[in-house]
Amino acid sequence: MHIVHTLPALAEALTHYRHPAVVPTMGNLHDGHLALVRQAKPLGDVTVATIFVNRLQFGPQDDFDTYPRTLAADCAQLEAAGCDLVFAPTEQEFYPEPQTFRVTPPEALTDVLEGAFRPGFFAGVCTVVLKLLSCTRARTAVFGKKDYQQLMVIRHMVRQFNLPVDIVGGDTCRASDGLALSSRNGYLNESERAKAGELHAQLQGIAHAVRAGHTDFAALEAQAMQALRTKGWQPDYVAVRRQSDLQLPQTADALVVLAAARLGSTRLIDNLEF
Ligand code: PAF
Repeated sequence: MHIVHTLPALAEALTHYRHPAVVPTMGNLHDGHLALVRQAKPLGDVTVATIFVNRLQFGPQDDFDTYPRTLAADCAQLEAAGCDLVFAPTEQEFYPEPQTFRVTPPEALTDVLEGAFRPGFFAGVCTVVLKLLSCTRARTAVFGKKDYQQLMVIRHMVRQFNLPVDIVGGDTCRASDGLALSSRNGYLNESERAKAGELHAQLQGIAHAVRAGHTDFAALEAQAMQALRTKGWQPDYVAVRRQSDLQLPQTADALVVLAAARLGSTRLIDNLEF
């Protein structure tokens, strides 16, 4: 596996390939990321992972400074998963001058759910993803469905800008109690970790109730929020939405239930399609 840190070295390493399949990450990798790499492998002629903690998508109170940087361990795992090339630029390399051109995603997609709680997050994600897709010359890019709204916003961006890349969603990997794998799970202490499967359990409860014929989504969401509070969580939202654009569902839409909640100081997100 080749590891490069600069744009010229990346261009050089990609010279002989026509169809890079790219998995963008911020590092601190877990089995969920590795599953995305394995999914990407048959989709291109070279499998590329990017590792870059993108300052633009962190708010002033977020964990940019403390976000774990674990490059050596990440590269060992990527190599074992069959990755061919890692692009891990420094900030100076990737943002050599202030990134004053930004991608502004439409409010209809980003003023709800995560966007409502993390102002500027999706503009930061879209800006870095556009740059990463461009410099890796990605023809396929794989993103985890755990960040459901992120995946949807990126799909819309790629479509509107006619970028020559297929966006592929990867299923969420879960621990045995249902907790979605996430780099931020490492922030949970032992007692928080013991409770953390509850978020997924609440989503399953809602999916089950809707499948059984319940249609009062607002009541189901409120019950789940209350159940989480009772169990020591501070939920930001639990929301049943339609899959295509995360707007309020009409009858017969394919649905997804999404949630974000804090356990102590760790904010977790999850979702379930149904
Ligand atoms: O999902 C992530 O890890 C990040 O948001 C991404 C897509 C790598 C952009 O920094």
